[in-house]
Amino acid sequence: MKRIGILTGGGDAPGLNAVIRAAVKTAIYEYNSEVVGIRNGYDGFIEADGIVPLTIESVRGLLPRGGTILGAANRGNPYARKIIRDGKEVMIDVSDEIIKGIKRLEMDALLVLGGDGTLHIAHALYKKGAPIIGVPKTIDNDIGGTEFTFGFDTAVNTATEAIDKLHTTAEAHHRVMVLELMGRDAGFIALHAGVAGGADVILIPEIPFKFESILAQVRQRVQDGYLFSIIVVSEGAKPQGGEQVFSRGGDEIYVPRLGGIGHRVGEFIEKHGYESRVTVLGHLQRGGSPTPFDRWLATRFGAAAVRLAAEGKFDRMVALRAGKIVDILLEEVTAITKRVDVNDDAVLAARGMGVSFGDE
Ligand code: F6P
Repeated sequence: MKRIGILTGGGDAPGLNAVIRAAVKTAIYEYNSEVVGIRNGYDGFIEADGIVPLTIESVRGLLPRGGTILGAANRGNPYARKIIRDGKEVMIDVSDEIIKGIKRLEMDALLVLGGDGTLHIAHALYKKGAPIIGVPKTIDNDIGGTEFTFGFDTAVNTATEAIDKLHTTAEAHHRVMVLELMGRDAGFIALHAGVAGGADVILIPEIPFKFESILAQVRQRVQDGYLFSIIVVSEGAKPQGGEQVFSRGGDEIYVPRLGGIGHRVGEFIEKHGYESRVTVLGHLQRGGSPTPFDRWLATRFGAAAVRLAAEGKFDRMVALRAGKIVDILLEEVTAITKRVDVNDDAVLAARGMGVSFGDE
């Protein structure tokens, strides 16, 4: 294995730099290979100065650093790249340029660190001849085939800390505190942080809710002498028979942006006589230093991806199953829609302890 490339696609997640570090060190120390980084997702293959050498020196000090030293481009789809032609915006397919770039740079493998969108593209590029190896990344934890993605634990930590802080002020002021969390169509962040932070109501996309049920929980708590409540809402949660709430519509480049359900819930509760405040945690969940778990997972993923490259096992993604790092076909990964199992023991445990999911 002479040379491998690494790119980070999609939105950033804490732990990306730890994967880069592990991959670079393993490639150089174990396999005596060269490593190059592709900047800003797939865009680096197209843009000037898009390829940078990665050495032991360039990854020094990276383990605790959030973000990605390679830059991210979460709408960088080579099959639909926006350019201006004759004064008009048009979409073009530049996937052949990526294949040419891989050949020109004599890459024996390309490690693609990304979420479902980036991995879909990676699989399509493999079919065109790219020697792809996927590494699952997202704070949402919604990638099929792996029990955890790196970045998720850090996001849950940040969200739990926020719930703890809201708890003290909620109790002091006898208020209802609503916290809107990320996760797109998967409720993992809200479920994990909600349970870890002791929320009274947890609303997730997988369990459509009734506004009346949330109110009933708040009322019951007041009757029981608890004058405050904590409501955790996943950004993709929706009322029964209703729709998700978006803060911005989508187009050919951008997917619609979720956001606003927390305010709808807060307004409803306040209208019924309980003072409420709404916090939208937003991108704080994506920032900061990765937790030890995420560093540990990212390091194992990075090293395992390089081992796969050395074995020539392409079109596969590294994954965590029952504590072990395994590898699975990208086609299998992209075929799975990973969501919270509504009969999961965490949901049952929370329900059994009086937490409302807003559906009863
Ligand atoms: O997929 C990660 C994520 O942070 C989602 O939880 C969220 O909906 C989305 O990305 C936000 O994307 P952007 O950074 O483009 O606003």
